[in-house]
Amino acid sequence: MSEFNNEIWFVGAEMSPLVKAGGLGDVMGSLPKVLLKAGMNVRVVIPYYKNIISKNFIDIKRVYPAGQVNFGEIPFEFGIKTGFAMGDIPLVLIEQNHFFNREDVYGSHGGVCAYKDNLWRYAMLAHGTAYAMRALGIPLVVHTHDWSGGIVPAVIRQAFGDKKVYINGPAEGIFNGKLSRSASAKGLRPAIAFTIHNLGYQGVYGIDDFYDIGLDFRYNSSAAYEHFGTFNSLKGGIKLSDIVTTVSPTYADEITAPEFGFGLDGELKNLRDDGRLKGILNGIDLDYWNPAVDRFISYNLNLKAGRYSLKDYGEWEKFKFNNKKALFSQISLPLKTGKNGKVLPLIGVVSRLTEEKGINEFLDALFNWNDFPFQVAILGSGKDYIERKANYLSEIFKDKVFTQTGKYDEALSHKIYAAADIFVMPSKFEPCGLSQMIAMRYGCVIAAGDTGGLHDTVSDIMDSGVKNPSGILIKHTNPDGIAWALNELYNRYISDGAEWRNLVVNSADKHFGWDDSAKVYESLYYDIIK
Ligand code: ADP
Ligand code: GLC
Repeated sequence: MSEFNNEIWFVGAEMSPLVKAGGLGDVMGSLPKVLLKAGMNVRVVIPYYKNIISKNFIDIKRVYPAGQVNFGEIPFEFGIKTGFAMGDIPLVLIEQNHFFNREDVYGSHGGVCAYKDNLWRYAMLAHGTAYAMRALGIPLVVHTHDWSGGIVPAVIRQAFGDKKVYINGPAEGIFNGKLSRSASAKGLRPAIAFTIHNLGYQGVYGIDDFYDIGLDFRYNSSAAYEHFGTFNSLKGGIKLSDIVTTVSPTYADEITAPEFGFGLDGELKNLRDDGRLKGILNGIDLDYWNPAVDRFISYNLNLKAGRYSLKDYGEWEKFKFNNKKALFSQISLPLKTGKNGKVLPLIGVVSRLTEEKGINEFLDALFNWNDFPFQVAILGSGKDYIERKANYLSEIFKDKVFTQTGKYDEALSHKIYAAADIFVMPSKFEPCGLSQMIAMRYGCVIAAGDTGGLHDTVSDIMDSGVKNPSGILIKHTNPDGIAWALNELYNRYISDGAEWRNLVVNSADKHFGWDDSAKVYESLYYDIIK
């Protein structure tokens, strides 16, 4: 019989603010924090990226004896360190310097130039996690994330057996350490929850690679990782977990159809029909992304977080103008005014620059637009051709467009959210999207693709049924569709009427925190140990 503790372990490749490449980092940093605040015993497991992890957010308390795993014929030693992140989040770091002491998380340019051995690297995370469970006690639930966490379910099963834990007796309160005397944990392995953050990244490798990552041969099957002759980490993660979630309700529907299912729609449809696929909307960390106290920006909002109303618009205007002035002086962009003497609206972009984000089409929309009435600040990294196109736009329109590509820049991202009037995110698909939520919190009006989490969070001004619009949803995210949306917003901005003011205040008033979704996760953790 296994020794369980009453914990929930989050396992993933990133955790903000320690190490982040995109939204996964935000979620791994903020959801555990909220669950912990609600009194639950949560612990986070991530790789120890020695070179890039922010050491000032980590407090290491204990180092355990090294473990070892064979990848093919090659033995690899690894270590585990335990301690706390950001003061009070229990943390396990898997240390293996050959794999994790690198310049980037997944590879350069936001992971677009991926490390060739990423499968090995994240298999190491999985083996390290199982080893840590032997040292620290087996959690009741493992919540693993994305393709990089997709190997965890197999390693857990081969380490502890297929028989899932269940609570014999009343389970209420167990994650808060309040298991009633009459209840006990029975079974061999933790229950496994798996979250898909983006079906576009499945961790697909040659089937031969299967034999190099320390997995039992039985997982080379279409009931696990094998997918049409390839190794598919995400598929195995889905097949071997007890419950699967994705990060918004609309995306949970979309991925059951071929257009967004990336070859796994059949699997996902079955899962949904069985009631084992749930769409739970992400939140953002409202303390961290808080315009009233954000230390990266020059001018803090002089309004308490709460419900905003139209009478607060004056302060939002001041907030935007002061942060725009500060940003422009940093990036050497002149403040330009348009025909009626009004400062041109600033469009902000903070994004990975891959096809799915639609930024390539956004750039084309501006190239095609004779004398576009905007200034633009672009921060992003990703595909070389999109980075180059963005840089080219700023070379041609030196006084209107600023572009910074190639690297991650937390401070600049905050400054752009604070200064931008319009935030553009014309994604072709978007599992959830956090950038639009952050941008709304900072009073930006949103122009976004009508898909996934964008559909669930942006209230469309074109929809007459919507009471408090916060932006515009773009049905066709081609250059013309994007230009149409930007033009609609420009007309409202320039007329300076109540419609624009309403948009800004509504947007800031949306507050996408974690409270509701954290409760849904909590009940889901109970469901899978019953
Ligand atoms: P995704 O996870 O698909 O990239 P999300 O909208 O969920 O998209 O999350 C993106 C997160 O990464 C946001 O917090 C955004 O501010 C941040 N981000 C993206 N690119 C950069 C960058 N170059 N520098 C700083 N932050 C970035
Ligand atoms: C992924 C998705 C993004 C989502 C994030 C966090 O990177 O692309 O839409 O917000 O994960 O779940």
